[in-house]
Parts: sequence; structure tokens; C-alpha cells
Amino acid sequence: MNIYENQTVKKLRLGVIGTGSVVREIYEYLYFDSVYSPLISVEAICDRNEENMKLVGDKHNIPVSRRFTDYRDLISNVPIDAVTVNTPDHFHKEPAVFALEAGLDVLLPKPIADNVKDAHAIIAKAKQLGRFIGVDFHKREDPRIKEAKARFRQGDYGKFQSSVWYMLDKLMVSDPNHVPRFFATADFAAINSPVSFLTVHMADAFMTISGLKPLSVKAVGYKQKLPSLKPLAVDGYDLVDTEIFFENGGVCHIITGWAIPNSAHALTVQSARIIGSEGLLDLNLDLPGYHEVIAGGIFERNPLFRNFEPDGKVSGYGIQSAGKIIENMIGFRNSQFSTDEIGKLMDPFSLGFYATLVCEGAHRSLENGVRITEGVVSGGTVNLKNLLEREIGKTESDNYYKN
Ligand SMILES: NC(=O)c1ccc[n+]([C@@H]2O[C@H](COP(=O)([O-])OP(=O)(O)OC[C@H]3O[C@@H](n4cnc5c(N)ncnc54)[C@H](O)[C@@H]3O)[C@@H](O)[C@H]2O)c1
Repeated sequence: MNIYENQTVKKLRLGVIGTGSVVREIYEYLYFDSVYSPLISVEAICDRNEENMKLVGDKHNIPVSRRFTDYRDLISNVPIDAVTVNTPDHFHKEPAVFALEAGLDVLLPKPIADNVKDAHAIIAKAKQLGRFIGVDFHKREDPRIKEAKARFRQGDYGKFQSSVWYMLDKLMVSDPNHVPRFFATADFAAINSPVSFLTVHMADAFMTISGLKPLSVKAVGYKQKLPSLKPLAVDGYDLVDTEIFFENGGVCHIITGWAIPNSAHALTVQSARIIGSEGLLDLNLDLPGYHEVIAGGIFERNPLFRNFEPDGKVSGYGIQSAGKIIENMIGFRNSQFSTDEIGKLMDPFSLGFYATLVCEGAHRSLENGVRITEGVVSGGTVNLKNLLEREIGKTESDNYYKN
């Protein structure tokens, strides 16, 4: 028995909308096999892909009568307190807003949405109705990011000047020909991009550490490997280099892709360097300390992210990040937070609003970019305040940039 099981707190009755890859990789453990599981009761699930839903439903004994192909039926027919919206980024707003309007709280995996208009609509609806939303950016709970934030904020590295981040997934992640396919949907890498799937993590991690707001963005994109895949080719970017200019004059490059060879030492090859006027910091994110040599090759394992404990529980910052949001949601529902505390939990930084803004800026930059050579696009500079103003109007956009 753990401390959570001793609590008399009423379980959060949860509806799970979307049962694809993020559920298999992270949330299944959160819901059913983590220290947070005694706080959660999965009351119903929904996926328009019945095969995906059956896998999760059968494994966790969800009654057939509690499985839905339309999220509106789930929300309208099952008594629940909250939903977790695990659908692709471009389809977060509709279920989230529908749930908020039904009086529910909402947990979203990053990003809050794939564009600022949707992100703002979700935030505005939650504020208008006095509901709680949380967005799970698991890197925020990585102990290395937390340490970097504490030291950066106390001034150990001086004034921020420049930073380079990279996050490169193995090709098997974006390749619809890989068996088993990583994403539930075959066209995931064409509909999404390394920006929406990966840059968003690094942009949020940098802003978590620095607390700085982004002012402009410029991107260069490469479509050279994905279009050559066989038999299914993908019309999508292999790699995107996004340059972000921040309010203090510092610059950050975030290089992301999902086309490095499957022989890489980690599913995600990633690192970061932050340079300030008084020092620098290297975050060797793909070297968490567990190095193995086995018949299949040499690999880095990351038990910090997901750890299988001897008692069958799964821990690690991948689980803890969403688990803490569930705890906060329960605290909110039990009126344990002051107005100031709620304001902090739901401020634009906490909800990852600026990460969505950066990514939309990068996509816009590429859309209006110049073709340099076959498969290479160089985008122009996108002013993020102007972009936001165009999308949500001046009054609302000013609120996101006031100090
Ligand atoms: N895969 C990861 O490790 C990971 C990590 C962090 C965050 N995320 C985020 O999680 C979200 C889901 O990503 P994923 O990787 O699980 O994608 P996925 O394609 O594997 O799964 C998405 C699921 O949503 C379902 N779906 C789509 N439209 C639907 C609708 N209208 N109603 C009901 N179900 C619908 C699909 O059928 C699919 O099963 C995205 O926002 C993604 O950015 C994923």
C-alpha cells in the first residue's frame, strides 16, 4: 500500500478520448499501474479507430458498453469528472471545449493545440466557465531540466545569449512502413511535422528553464528522406531548424527531425546547450546514465523517463508529469487552491501557450518560404506578436504579452 491508497480522496472519474500511441507509451501506466492510479477511475474510453480502442479496452477490462467511437456520446452518457484528450494535435480543441461546456476538467498531452487560435479558445473557455485544464509536457519533470531551471533563474549563467537544442527521432517513428507502426494513423508524419511533435517539447523546455517570451521565429525545412520511403512515401519534413528570437535579445535554435537511422543509440537522440554571459550549460538528454551493449547493438536506456518498479508500478518523469496534473485537478475540484495559485497553474506558460505560438510561427515561416533546392525550404521571419494579433485580435493578444 502506498500513501495515495491511504487517502480518502474521491477518485477522479476519467473519460479517455483517444487510445493511440501516447496511451500505449505513457498513459496506460498512469491510469492503471502508477502511484497515481488509486486517484483515477477510468470510466469510459473513446476512439474512432475501434481496433485501437479494443486493444486498450480488453487489456483493462473496460466494459463494451463504456466504449465509444464519438467523444460526444461518451461525455453525454457517462457520469465523469474529467477527460483526457489524447487525439492528434489538430483535434484537441473540439473535444476539450465540448468537455468544458459539459462542466468537466481537461487533461491534454502536449501541445495544448496545434495553433494559437485553438489554444486560446480552450484557455478562454476554461476561464469563462471556471474549469481546470492541464497540459502535460513531461520534460518539465525531468530532474535535469528542473535543476537547470533553478540554476538559470538564480543567475548562475548570467544573461541568456544563445542556445542550441536538437531532438531527432529514429525513422521508425515517422515511417508508416515500419512494423509495428509507431503511430496509430498511417499519415501521422504527413499531417504533423517534427515541429509539432518535437520542437514543441524543446521550445517548452527552454521556456520552462528561462521564463522568456518568444518574439519572432524563422525556420528552414528539409524533405529529403520521407518522400523516398517505400512502398508508402510520406510528403513531410525529415528535419526542421527553427530559430527563435527572445524578448531579452537571446536566440535559440531548435533542430528536430524523425529520420535518423533506426540503428541510433536511442529512440530519440537529443541534447541542448545554453550559453549565457557568465557560463554555459550542457544538457546531455540522451545520456541518462544507463548504457548497454547487447546483441542488437549499443543503446542508451532512459529509466528516468519510465521505470518499471519491482512492485509492478511504473514510475519516472513521463508518468509523474501527468500524475501531478491529476493531483492538481483533484486539488482544484476540492477547492484547495487560492485564486492566485489557480492563476499560476493555468497561466500561459504553464499551459504551454508560447510553445504552440513558436510552432505555428515555424509552420507559417515554412509555408511562405523560398525553395532553395529540391526538398529544401528556407522560411522568412515571422513576428509572433503580429501573428497572434491576426489570429485572436489585439486585446486578447496583448494579454499574452503584458508583463
Ligand atoms: N506518442 C507519444 O509518445 C506522445 C508523447 C507526448 C504527447 N503526445 C501527444 O498525444 C496526442 C496523441 O498522439 P499519439 O502519438 O497518441 O497519436 P496516435 O495517432 O497514435 O493516436 C491518436 C488516436 O486518436 C484517435 N482519434 C483521432 N481522431 C479521433 C476522434 N475524432 N475521436 C476519437 N478518437 C480519435 C486515433 O484513432 C488514434 O487512436 C498528440 O497530441 C501528441 O502530440 C504523444
